Amino acid sequence: MLLEVNEIEVYYGKIAALKGISLTVDEGEIVALIGANGAGKTTTLKAISGLRPLSAGRIWFDGRDISRMPGHLRVVAGIGQAPEGRGIFPGMTVQENLLMGGYARRGKKDAELTEVYELFPRLAERKAQAGGTMSGGEQQMLAIGRALMARPKVLLLDEPSMGLAPILVAQIFSIISEINRRGTTVLLVEQNAAQALRLAHRAYVLETGRVVKSAPAAELLTDPRVQAAYLGGDLNTGSALTNSKPAHPGGLA
Ligand SMILES: Nc1ncnc2c1ncn2[C@@H]1O[C@H](COP(=O)(O)OP(=O)(O)O)[C@@H](O)[C@H]1O
Ligand SMILES: [Mg+2]
Repeated sequence: MLLEVNEIEVYYGKIAALKGISLTVDEGEIVALIGANGAGKTTTLKAISGLRPLSAGRIWFDGRDISRMPGHLRVVAGIGQAPEGRGIFPGMTVQENLLMGGYARRGKKDAELTEVYELFPRLAERKAQAGGTMSGGEQQMLAIGRALMARPKVLLLDEPSMGLAPILVAQIFSIISEINRRGTTVLLVEQNAAQALRLAHRAYVLETGRVVKSAPAAELLTDPRVQAAYLGGDLNTGSALTNSKPAHPGGLA
């Protein structure tokens, strides 16, 4: 097992965003986290990459307890993240942005650059262009490319399809599949549940800070309750998966 998240709790002030999330990711897998807005998907990724501290629980990565490891050391350990909202450096060129992502590795990074440009020919064409002047889709590619520069063992992706035109969504998903085919494990957060489930091997459904279901992705795609809650159009107004009263709109719990 490459990554094991065990009963983690994360708070924002007094508000519990994660109320005991557990999940695992095996080497070579694409695992998806799906769920409505506010379910805790981004917070889960931030807890794994070290951007949010744990109040309880543990995270194991590559045989080590990383629960208290600072974020920059998690990058060195092999956790790469392309954050929600891209987070690229707008004033730097595409290539400078990519080289910033390789800081965890010493040496010239030529091989990594070549590989990223192979995955994203568009970035190669624009290598001298300022990152901030790239389109939304190109900036998303740049954010993923930058994370790959450190040759992560696992790549954490937060809503890579957000705000992209359908044609670019398809492109991003096919590149994620290719990245995985080349050997990188992927933990993918998506509101675009249908597409995430088509890409992923397994998935977890999050609701208000808890995992309410986990199964092979193909199984979730055909689960009537998942279909009703998450695959039927507006992802934020789905019905409940579990049989309790729908105390809040948008969920299974
Ligand atoms: N910086 C923050 N300060 C306070 N509350 C936050 C912050 N970020 C997220 N939250 C809350 O934590 C919960 C989980 O948010 P988030 O992980 O962003 O969900 P998701 O990515 O699934 O939409 C939500 O209730 C959200 O309002
Ligand atoms: Mg989010």
